[in-house]
Amino acid sequence: MTNDDFTDTIHRNHERAISEATADAQFDAWIDGASAASNTGRRFETRTPAVDETITTVPRCDSEDVDWAVDAAEAAFDSTWGSLTAGERSDAILEWTSALRANSDELALLESLDAGKPIENAKYEVGKALDYIEYYAHVVRGEQGHQIPVANDVHAFTKREPYGVAGLIVPWNYPLILTAWKLGPALAAGNTVVLKPAEQTPLSATRIAQLSAGILPDGVLNVVHGFGDEVGAPLTRHEDVSKLSFTGEDMTGETVMKAAAEGITPVTLELGGKSPFVVFPDADLEKAASIAAEGVFYNTGQSCEAFSRTLVHEDVHDEFMELFESEAAARSIGDPLREETTTGPLASKQQYEKVKEYVELGRREGATVVRGGGTDPLDDENAGWYIEPTIFDDVTNDMRIAQEEIFGPVASVLTFSDYNEAIAIANDIDFGLAAGVATTDLSLAHRAADDIRAGTVWVNQYGRLVPGTPFGGYKRSGIGRECAKETLKEYQQTKMINIQIDDPEL
Ligand code: NAI
Ligand code: MG
Repeated sequence: MTNDDFTDTIHRNHERAISEATADAQFDAWIDGASAASNTGRRFETRTPAVDETITTVPRCDSEDVDWAVDAAEAAFDSTWGSLTAGERSDAILEWTSALRANSDELALLESLDAGKPIENAKYEVGKALDYIEYYAHVVRGEQGHQIPVANDVHAFTKREPYGVAGLIVPWNYPLILTAWKLGPALAAGNTVVLKPAEQTPLSATRIAQLSAGILPDGVLNVVHGFGDEVGAPLTRHEDVSKLSFTGEDMTGETVMKAAAEGITPVTLELGGKSPFVVFPDADLEKAASIAAEGVFYNTGQSCEAFSRTLVHEDVHDEFMELFESEAAARSIGDPLREETTTGPLASKQQYEKVKEYVELGRREGATVVRGGGTDPLDDENAGWYIEPTIFDDVTNDMRIAQEEIFGPVASVLTFSDYNEAIAIANDIDFGLAAGVATTDLSLAHRAADDIRAGTVWVNQYGRLVPGTPFGGYKRSGIGRECAKETLKEYQQTKMINIQIDDPEL
């Protein structure tokens, strides 16, 4: 296919999909159980990065809209949600997720259009997102307080209570999954929610809120659209928001935490990563190359846990690189709406420009591009925000491409000569979200997993997370753990009740 044919086809596919996805739909904010425009009267566009066309518009909310949503959430907490039993909340959440499952194709299409995700990945991610929400609806029934044997003349026990209104701020790389990681435990624990989706990807969150109508009591789930400074910041400063959870860039996380400090509001932060994938010389190299490629090219590299630093032992470097390069070449880059596509565009023009700058920077820093590096084969400016899967070799750990989160399909390969050097390079980084190890030696796997400072270590695999596996960062990668049973506690506070028991006087 020539570039012109490709461009024609992808445009036609997207025009059709956009009209299918938006024909009967209105994408507004969702406040107090109903669609809502912003008090500003303003709206902004959300575009699909696959062809850089407008999908639709959403309200451009501001701090007054945030106040409105927080008031609605507070009222719902006081009147209904906060005083339901865990079982009652669980039933309502599961009824809601059934409605979402019945609409999962539509949700996947919205996710694909908004973020440029390959449609097969989008379908998988919608299923995963719902799985996470359902998990919390189930586990909350089994999570109870306990009795403490203080003395024979007291009865002391704990209760786990919700905070009240939770403010949830989500980025654009996995809009539904990252929303589910927060919404699931927040709602199951009994909090009501004001959710701010990323301005680049507002659509799936809008639809899941609309589909809660008549199932979740009004005001339990509110969605406010807009930009970080206009909606995100007021939400983090709001005195009636008593729990915050944020996923995004580490610098924004710092700002969120500072704002939270003023109200002594607890925060969960899931921030950036620059995860090392260490390939030891005894590894199954074919498998390692395939894991390395999936680890840095899935979702076009826009994953906080991406294996963006590949550390390879010098003895197997050449053989590994050959395999890694052919894995990169085998990625099917193109139209996200086609089932066979494995690599879509970057999620926005802004992200595309950032990644392109890092590719230039890597060249200037003296690393060698051994594969990719350009926007071919789709280097037509009408075809969307594509960058080829790119591999830099000869990277040293002091280069910025080895230290900073690029968030694109760009791998940095570093070489090591012994175990201690591998671990030193792996840990010489401000982040500590995840890491990977490729080896067939059981002891080496355990030793490296112990020595690498990261919240998750995957051995001979990449990215496997299910409801129940705690996920979160060491160092600048964040505070708290998502995805797991213990996450519920981040949305609950413990009350200890200690009752004096007097001797009977009869
Ligand atoms: P960001 O951290 O600025 O945005 C994430 C969310 O926070 C969005 O909903 C945004 O509107 C909101 N936000 C922005 N400023 C805020 C503020 N002052 N107070 C409250 N909320 C605020 O990330 P951005 O600008 O979209 O992406 C920049 C870079 O961050 C990416 O290139 C990538 O390297 C990294 N990133 C990492 C993610 C991860 O999963 N760890 C996710 C998204 C981005
Ligand atoms: Mg930002």
